[in-house]
Amino acid sequence: MPRALITGITGQDGSYLVELLLSKGYEVHGIVRRVALEDPSHRMWRIKHLLKDIRLHAGSLESFPSIYKTIVDVKPDECYHLAAQSFVSYSFEDEFSTLNTNINGTHFMLTAVRDVHPECRFYFAGSSEMFGKVREVPQSETTPFHPRSPYGISKVAGFDLTRNYRESYDMFAVNGILFNHESPRRGYEFVTRKITFNAAKIKLGLASELSLGNLDARRDWGHSEDYVTAMWMMLQQQKPDDFVVATGVTHTVREFCDAAFKHVGLDYRDYVVVNPQFFRPSEVDVLMGDSSKAQRVLGWKPGRLFEDLVKEMVDADLRSLQEKNG
Ligand code: NAP
Ligand code: GDD
Repeated sequence: MPRALITGITGQDGSYLVELLLSKGYEVHGIVRRVALEDPSHRMWRIKHLLKDIRLHAGSLESFPSIYKTIVDVKPDECYHLAAQSFVSYSFEDEFSTLNTNINGTHFMLTAVRDVHPECRFYFAGSSEMFGKVREVPQSETTPFHPRSPYGISKVAGFDLTRNYRESYDMFAVNGILFNHESPRRGYEFVTRKITFNAAKIKLGLASELSLGNLDARRDWGHSEDYVTAMWMMLQQQKPDDFVVATGVTHTVREFCDAAFKHVGLDYRDYVVVNPQFFRPSEVDVLMGDSSKAQRVLGWKPGRLFEDLVKEMVDADLRSLQEKNG
């Protein structure tokens, strides 16, 4: 039975990845913060249906000893390093903690794997945010990085560390360059979930307006459940390599609003207000990925596209709000 360790197991991607790995017969371990272990119903809502099938270890990205000890205890065959301060907006408010947590956390993971169990295959959750002020459209593995946020900078550092450990220590260490991916398990602070949750609330008479920032930003949105499959595929290859994972289709935030509100029979222009508070000091204007390498080498396919994703998210929010509010 192969053994996998996931950091960020309580997050959106972590939860879908656990389901995938369990279905493939893996023994699954996860690193979680102690506060989560103490408050599972709130802090582990995405994986509460899986708790009996996995093993959790208390630890955090700030603590090298906790990471080192977990690698010693688990000796995983595969390690999926997904934990991070992942909210771009917040990275402008607290640059120092985002850079510390994301860069040191990745460095701690790589060092511990190298020193304790170097045969472990290592996945790093890189991001399309690394392309930032994009040099070309679409973006591929050869597009230069130009990050536009402290978060993006931290991911470029993680990418470089991962590649450097591969080249210096002959480790099977790979970078996924994943474009935005969403689902009904997406955090409420991200724009897609903010839109689908509020469209559902407005439809049910529980809210009357939605404040957003830049409606003209373009993102390449896929489905988290389809993207975690690509992570697993990257670790099954003969040779370690880096891959872009994206749908190849881009939409504006405005188009996302339009689709979500239309799905509940409303016109977003009657409810969405632009609030400068949600603009960022510097923006990533357009993301659109070229995942032809992942499709060719891994045999991966993007799966669910924009329209189906929006509908799934709105329907899930409608259902859960109806359950909660009778
Ligand atoms: P997410 O839902 O925000 O989950 C982040 C996870 O990291 C949570 O489990 C969180 O634990 C954990 N974490 C944060 N700080 C930690 C710390 N100091 N110590 C230990 N754990 C910590 O993110 P996601 O959407 O699943 O994304 C997974 C990874 O892919 C992230 O690295 C993200 O930056 C990257 N990524 C995401 C996307 C996307 O569109 N979703 C695209 C490209 C790359 P708590 O539950 O305790 O907070
Ligand atoms: N969050 C948010 N809230 N974003 C808004 C809002 C708002 O009220 N209004 C407009 N936006 C715009 C943002 O300015 C950005 O251009 C776009 O919506 C998407 O924002 P997010 O959903 O917060 O995602 P992100 O693209 O910044 O970052 C996500 O994708 C990255 C991959 O490109 C995160 O998941 C990152 O962790 C990930 O690496």
